[in-house]
Amino acid sequence: QEVHAAELERTFIAIKPDGVQRGLVAEIISRFERKGFKLVGIKVLIPSKEFAQKHYHDLKDRPFFNGLCEFLSSGPVVAMVWEGQGVISYGRKLIGATDPQKSEPGTIRGDLAVVVGRNIIHGSDGPQTAKDEINLWFKPEELVNYTGNSEKWIY
Ligand code: TYD
Repeated sequence: QEVHAAELERTFIAIKPDGVQRGLVAEIISRFERKGFKLVGIKVLIPSKEFAQKHYHDLKDRPFFNGLCEFLSSGPVVAMVWEGQGVISYGRKLIGATDPQKSEPGTIRGDLAVVVGRNIIHGSDGPQTAKDEINLWFKPEELVNYTGNSEKWIY
C-alpha cells in the first residue's frame, strides 16, 4: 500500500560536534538508512551559542544547560530531517538512552559513546518537539518531498 510523503512522520536528528569530529557521520547516517528511513534534509553548520540555547530551551533551568549549549556550538553539527513511519520514536530507539553508560549495545550511543555530556547525537523526543526543531533548524525549501521513484537509480 502506497503511503504519501505528506502523511509520513518526520524527525530532527543532529550529529553533535563530537560525532562529527570523531568521524562518525557516515556510520550514523548509515544506521538510519539501513533501517529504511528516508533522508529529506541535511546540512553542516556551526550553531551560535544563542541558537543552541533556543534548541535546548526546555532545559534552561538544568545545571548542565550552559555547558551543553557551549558544547553544541563548539564545532560543526550535521543537522538532518529523516522521514518514515514511526521515525520519531524509532529514531530514539536507534539512538539509545541519553546516558551512554545506560544505552544498550546495538544503539548509536551504546556502541559509540561513553559520557552523557558527549553523547554524539540528538533526536527529537516527540511529535511537537520534532515539528518545533525542524522549523528551528530548516527552512521549508531545504526539505525535499519525494516518493515513488526509489528504484530509478538502482540498476
Ligand atoms: P535530554 O533532552 O534530557 O536527553 P536526549 O538528548 O536523550 O533527548 O538532554 C539533552 C542533552 O543534555 C543530552 O543529550 C546530554 C545533555 N545532558 C547532560 O549533559 N547531563 C545530563 O545529566 C542530562 C540529563 C543531559
